[in-house]
Amino acid sequence: MADPSYPPLSYATPFLLHARASANSFLSQFEPLALLVGPLIAVFLARALRSLIGAVQERGIKTALLGFFMSCIKLVPAVKRHIDAEKQKVVDKMQSGGKSRREGWRTMLPYPGLGSGVIDLMKEEKRSDAAWQGKCSGTVYIKGNESEGHFSLINEACSMFSHTNPLHLDVFQSVVRFESEVVAMTAALLGSKENASGGQVCGNMTSGGTESILLAMKTSRDYMKSIKGITSPEMIIPVSAHSAYDKAAQYFNIKLWRVPVNKDFQADVKAIRRHINRNTILIVGSAPGFPHGIIDPIEELGALASSYNICFHVDCCLGGFVLPFARKLGYQIPPFDFSVKGVTSISVDVHKYGLAPKGTSIVLYRNHDIRKVFFHLSIRCCHVYLYVRYKFLLLCYPFWFIPSNSSFIIFLFMQLFDLHAGLRAALQQHQFVAVTEWTGGLYVSPTVAGSRPGGLIAGAWAAMMSLGQEGYMQNTGEIMQARKKIQRGVEEIEELFVVGKPDMTIVAFGSNVLDIFEVNDAMSSKGWHLNALQRPNSIHICVTLQHVPVVDDFIKDLQESVQTVKANPGPKDGGLAPIYGAAGRMPDRGMVHELLVNYMDSTC
Ligand SMILES: Cc1ncc(COP(=O)(O)O)c(C=O)c1O
Repeated sequence: MADPSYPPLSYATPFLLHARASANSFLSQFEPLALLVGPLIAVFLARALRSLIGAVQERGIKTALLGFFMSCIKLVPAVKRHIDAEKQKVVDKMQSGGKSRREGWRTMLPYPGLGSGVIDLMKEEKRSDAAWQGKCSGTVYIKGNESEGHFSLINEACSMFSHTNPLHLDVFQSVVRFESEVVAMTAALLGSKENASGGQVCGNMTSGGTESILLAMKTSRDYMKSIKGITSPEMIIPVSAHSAYDKAAQYFNIKLWRVPVNKDFQADVKAIRRHINRNTILIVGSAPGFPHGIIDPIEELGALASSYNICFHVDCCLGGFVLPFARKLGYQIPPFDFSVKGVTSISVDVHKYGLAPKGTSIVLYRNHDIRKVFFHLSIRCCHVYLYVRYKFLLLCYPFWFIPSNSSFIIFLFMQLFDLHAGLRAALQQHQFVAVTEWTGGLYVSPTVAGSRPGGLIAGAWAAMMSLGQEGYMQNTGEIMQARKKIQRGVEEIEELFVVGKPDMTIVAFGSNVLDIFEVNDAMSSKGWHLNALQRPNSIHICVTLQHVPVVDDFIKDLQESVQTVKANPGPKDGGLAPIYGAAGRMPDRGMVHELLVNYMDSTC
């Protein structure tokens, strides 16, 4: 038994003095400089090793080593010069002479303004746009031309409210109401009225699918920090999920795991489960995904997220205004919205199949606690945590070498520190930003933008109200039929195969006998703008109302393009097939990354 009159530190003193003398005697054989530099080198090596292990975990050993090898080789100036020159050639080709087209572009404001003459000038510029009517995958979702029907209706609505800004909610009550109604009406399409949703769904309008996804990721990150204390957040997405998740990971410092899809090109639930760890904040499923138009197993992913108590985002950017109506029309649509247990947020674009003006999307949350912290919950968590910690400290006390009164002071200090951290977390609103100390006054804003375009909100409201459920139902019927016909047309071309089983309005196809990117070039020469995909190499068409009248033309042009490539394979002048092909094959993904960045840098 320890003598209580003899403080614990006294037992330790001889041992500590002896340890100190031995350490000093051992270290005296080294130069002081070596003692200083040694730890620095060790820290440097440890960091290098850590980033190598991280790269191997993320990209696999082959790609990581190749990336490392390429970085080393580029340290040789002659090799770097050669690689840079080759990269520039590819960038020029990707721009297809874009730089020369920029010659003569204004870089200065005209001194006397053009007045109303500017409109004529704009009409002239507009003529240089490609003929997009019925020819582009996705891109334009409304039928007809800008000057007619639904198009001109939403243009009128936008221009009526183009001066408005919901930031000034005291002035523009109309757009504040429009926004709230657009959000509520969209939420109702996605299960908010069903008991299983919990009846608390809330959301905001944003500028597009990417902003909705960015907000959902940031909000989930902060929500998980407040309820689980996760400070090194990680998220897991299938490889088919949109690149907006990469953007979110980069912007919000979230580690991203991209997991391969299964043989049906759906999220592989088992593979996702294997990546879950104590830092995981969120998993993602799409309904449907952009590349192949396939719906991920949302119910299974929801059950997985619930069992680990993590967030689950469903990307309905494409499907939000189609799937609810397709189901009513009798198509087999598996559950994908807030009726599914475990779904914590959904992104849905009004500017796609919602037929609203470009720049309108919605982010929805299952409840307000996710979007803005639930104050009492956080404080309660803090109390429970402190209580457990206090009990733990008491348990450990006999091993402490600090006198009991100091331990009490330390404990009090920790309590205050933790309470402060808890309060800070409580004040940090997950999605909203509220500023109380700005000399410009009290400020609160719900999304990324401060001022927001009331005209677009009004345009979205006009689109939804003018179409109604009946209008969307009819549109969905037409595009689903068009997709089925295109899918059949592709399946009948023996050189092509359809990727997976399309669930909605996208048909992706590849070829085992032809270079599919050459087929894409042949389609481009006929005025089509399709999307090139990779893994597997394929192209897709996202069917919109624009395509309904031209389905037969598409199939005929595709048949001809396949025959042209079959009769005369090989790259064509001005075609992008060699670039897509090479980019897909290039094992050094760092190089492909640099190419994309250089292309962007020289474009804007
Ligand atoms: C499934 C999906 N999610 C997100 C996005 C991103 O939307 P946006 O381009 O409006 O930012 C897209 C765009 O096509 C998409 O298809």
